[in-house]
Amino acid sequence: MSLKGKSLIEPLNFTVAEMDELFNEAERIIANPRDYAEACKGYLLATLFYEPSTRTRFSFEAAMLRLGGQIIGFSEPNSSAVSKGESIADTIRTVECYADVAVMRHPKEGSAMVAAMSSDFPVINAGDGGHHHPTQTLTDLLTIRLRHGNFNNLTVGMCGDLKFGRTVHSLIRALLRYTGVRFVLISPDELKVPDYVREELKGANFTETQDLTAVMPELDVLYMTRVQRERFFNEEDYVRLKDRYILDMDKLQNAKESLMVLHPLPRVNEIAVEVDDDPRAVYFQQAKNGMYVRMALIMAVLGVKV
Ligand code: NCD
Repeated sequence: MSLKGKSLIEPLNFTVAEMDELFNEAERIIANPRDYAEACKGYLLATLFYEPSTRTRFSFEAAMLRLGGQIIGFSEPNSSAVSKGESIADTIRTVECYADVAVMRHPKEGSAMVAAMSSDFPVINAGDGGHHHPTQTLTDLLTIRLRHGNFNNLTVGMCGDLKFGRTVHSLIRALLRYTGVRFVLISPDELKVPDYVREELKGANFTETQDLTAVMPELDVLYMTRVQRERFFNEEDYVRLKDRYILDMDKLQNAKESLMVLHPLPRVNEIAVEVDDDPRAVYFQQAKNGMYVRMALIMAVLGVKV
């Protein structure tokens, strides 16, 4: 089994066994980070961010630097030839001349796929519009695994913007491969999962509701999300929906002691700051895990072993 040279565009590009191997490697890195300090010496990672990012870009860059590799890239497309009208295909073919692996975030669905098809080196999708975000899924799964051991028989609540939230689409797709996972999808009518995701859920155990409080006692995982303002067609709808769900200590009262509250971040209003100190809040740990699993991913697609 080898992920060397492979691109990661959506979660199903990697098998369950391949993902397990990444999680095992991430856990080894967490235990002995120093052993990996020179793993990617001589390699170069390019980050192409056509959309804002804090965690995803920083964690990729930190991951490569902590592996002893180096980074190039842009976080502001207007500072590159993109502003002159260059296509994704041409940009990626150029980047391939200089770097060994590329990470790309773009507002258009399918853009990472186009990049992967236009080049021969590994392209990692760091978010393509409202579509997918597979490395956030690796982060989410590692976080669940570190606490819970495995993914079977979990009741997973997903709350907020399930329509435009790419992290939700990727996480559902990945979790559907495990046994006994039950999905509780909590959102206003306007922000329910898109049809293609509902299609994937056919035959799975899932319910849709608007009532977060009512379902709270059932949940093992609560995945909170931000309403994706940048994908709305009009500001009025955003303003009307943005504060629909706010997780606070009051709502957590009826939750299991073992609940894990996840959030890909950034948070706007959907989790009250008072929740941060509760042991069930794991979203900042989750952000940290993102770096470790990306270290494992970079090593795997470069074919580097320690
Ligand atoms: C998410 C994203 O970009 O989709 N953020 C992230 O990568 N951690 C979630 C979001 O922006 O709401």
